[in-house]
Amino acid sequence: MRSLDRANVKNKKVLVRCDFNCPLDEKGNILDDYDIERTIPTIEYLVQKQAKVILMSHLDEPEGRVIEKLKLTPIQDHLFEYLDLSISKAPDCIGDNVQKIIQEMLSGEILLLENLRFHKEEKENNENFAKELASLGDVFVNEAFGVCHRPHASIVGIPKYLPSFAGFLLQKEVETLTNILEKPRRPLIAILGGVKASTKIPAIERFLKIADFVLVGGKIALEIKLSHKKLILPEDYNKDLDIGEKTIEIFKKIIQEAGSLVWNGPMGYFEKEEFEKGTKEIAMAIANSKAFKIAGGGETSLAISKYNLKEKFNFISVGGGAMLEFLAGEKLPGLEALSFYH
Ligand code: 3PG
Repeated sequence: MRSLDRANVKNKKVLVRCDFNCPLDEKGNILDDYDIERTIPTIEYLVQKQAKVILMSHLDEPEGRVIEKLKLTPIQDHLFEYLDLSISKAPDCIGDNVQKIIQEMLSGEILLLENLRFHKEEKENNENFAKELASLGDVFVNEAFGVCHRPHASIVGIPKYLPSFAGFLLQKEVETLTNILEKPRRPLIAILGGVKASTKIPAIERFLKIADFVLVGGKIALEIKLSHKKLILPEDYNKDLDIGEKTIEIFKKIIQEAGSLVWNGPMGYFEKEEFEKGTKEIAMAIANSKAFKIAGGGETSLAISKYNLKEKFNFISVGGGAMLEFLAGEKLPGLEALSFYH
């Protein structure tokens, strides 16, 4: 993987794949913009180096259709708040109109392309779509660690056609997670929760191989059909929407003994006050432990912000699924593509 600081970007059109997939409320408002805040050093670096900065991202799951509330306008607004530089937004992410806007860009300017997943070809990793995206730039930067587990066009397709580099945040993610994977302080405890059974259950199976204990809460705990000596499931619930008092105490005791902690996924429906106790207490127990602690994923970061615990974590990964796969020793297609073609 080549680092962005080795790229010659002056006066070049630099396509930056970001992960601006921020958690949203029902109306489409951004609940937490940490994913945006953390790409600012890369954007500032490129502006300072006089590149033409073209940012792209997906937001949520529009399934190949244009959905008004999933347009990236709120992302543009939040970027503006951090950068205090003008940022234009293109009406799409490919096409003649976008090409024309880019041709007219001056060095040091920033353009945000529209939601990549408005085109179903993004997730299909369609070759022509990847070529069209690549044709917009001279250089590609992957700053979207959180999407590197997805073999999508903007992640694995573009590096076939452009000199490609790892963004600063992506490098930091890989470095930190490699350290915990290779030499974790033991005992290593994974705490997993949330609702996405399709990604979480394979992650639980993989963590059972590397961790000393795997604590599972959230909706997935109700669906899991495994039994294993390292697997600790809830003993009681609060109406199936949160872990119960007894479970909170058991989990807290194990967390206190940890050398390293990896947390992904809330313990219950923490957005509602009556079901937040499990997530809040476990978040605080993790934050106050002396272990090396990392967390990752959109909902997990949101909970950490809600309880003001950000500063207490050694690292918060932008990736949910990507972090889990990386720590389980899987090869992420996005990282492979960065190393393979260049
Ligand atoms: C994330 O939020 O974890 C990444 O942006 C990936 O999103 P996805 O699960 O919709 O692919």
